This record gives sequence, structure tokens and C-alpha cells, in this order.
Amino acid sequence: MTDPPRKLIIAIDGPAGAGKSTIASRLARKLGYVNLESGAMYRALALRAIEWDASFDDEAALLKMAQESRITLDRSIGGNRVLLNGKDVSQRIRERDVTEAASRISVHPKVREWMVARQREMGIGGGIVMEGRDIGTRVFPDADLKIFLDADPVIREQRRLDQQQVKGAPAQAMAAELRERDRRDRTRAASPLMAADDAVVLDSTSMSEDEVLNRIGELVEQRLAARR
Ligand code: DC
Repeated sequence: MTDPPRKLIIAIDGPAGAGKSTIASRLARKLGYVNLESGAMYRALALRAIEWDASFDDEAALLKMAQESRITLDRSIGGNRVLLNGKDVSQRIRERDVTEAASRISVHPKVREWMVARQREMGIGGGIVMEGRDIGTRVFPDADLKIFLDADPVIREQRRLDQQQVKGAPAQAMAAELRERDRRDRTRAASPLMAADDAVVLDSTSMSEDEVLNRIGELVEQRLAARR
């Protein structure tokens, strides 16, 4: 008997509002894979920093806080619950203050190194869809399939508004904040947001969710066929 083919590692990167979370969750469910949302880990650490009144600029303090926290992503198929020291903070981390703090703490190289090491541990064995900003470039440079999901900024802002993922913010302020977080993601020195050289870039501006999912499904099939 031959061994069953190793399950794939699928990386989905891209800016906020491009549709990564929905697509990653649906794709994981379809494949029976685990969906890991790396941004939720940055958000959980940001929440810890808020709770402890730590400066978002104090890299050493943030690293210590990360080392002393238990940040766990739920490994249920298609799910994206996050636990901070055993407490379910999945809802709280979507709020506006945490969103802003997560963007600020994620610029620090040592915080990122810590996150990357944890994320690699979670990917051992494959069978995961991990989404974020640096999954294809840094966390899993050898991922079996890398998708860079992008969309026009105006569309991304609109989607965020529709989803009301950032609660309690007026539309105009939200759009400005999204643009600023984008800028920070793309210009930070440590692992800035960019497509890996071997990523498939999908612009979802005029694609439906189903179309994006079908296209990725074809790419998954190709990768799996290549192993047979
Ligand atoms: O995907 P998200 O919006 O939940 O991510 C929250 C913040 O974390 C975002 O400002 C960018 C940062 N992040 C990152 O730097 N690297 C990742 N792999 C995931 C998220």
C-alpha cells in the first residue's frame, strides 16, 4: 500500500477586505482542512497589550507579553476561534481599538518572529489553509499553493463596511483607518505585505466569492494531481 498523499499547505495573503477570511474558511471546509487565521494572533496579542496598558511601541515588552500568553487558534475545520489564555476572545478582537492596535504591534520584528515560529508549529503535517500577510513569503515559503488575494481599495472599504467587521466606526473614519493600516502593512521593514514570487495573484474586484473559490479549487486540484 502506498501512503496517502500529504495534505497541502495553502497560504492566502492579501490586504484587509480582499475577502481572505471568507475564502479561507470556505476553502478549508470544502477540503476538510484546518483554517488558521494568523491575523487573529496579532489581534489577540494587541488585546493583551490593551488590557495591560502596554505601549504599542515597546517591542521588548510586547515580546515578553507574547511569550507569557497562551494564544491559541481553534483547529476546528473551517473555524476561526481564538483563545487568549483560555478565554474565547474571537468577538472582542474584531473591535476597532484592537484592529488599530494589531496593526501597530505587528510592525515589530521580534513580535513577528515569535508569531512566525508559532504559526509554523501549527502548520506541521499540512492540511491547513493559513491566511495573513506574510504566509507565502515568510511563514511557509515552501507552501504548496500560494494565493495573493487583492481587490480595489474602494471595494475593500465597502466590503468591510458591509461586513461591519470593525464595530463602532463611522464610514469615513473606517475608510481612512483601513488605508492607514494598508500603508503600514506594505511599508514596514519586517516582512511587508507583498505577493511571493510564486504566488498566484487573484484580483477579486469583479469576481464573486464563488468564482474566487472555484479558481482556487482548480489550483488545488492541479497541485494534488501533480503529487499523484
Ligand atoms: O488580517 P487581520 O486584519 O485580522 O490582521 C490584523 C493585523 O495583523 C493587521 O493589521 C496586519 C497584521 N498581520 C500581519 O502583520 N501578518 C499576518 N500574517 C497577519 C496579520
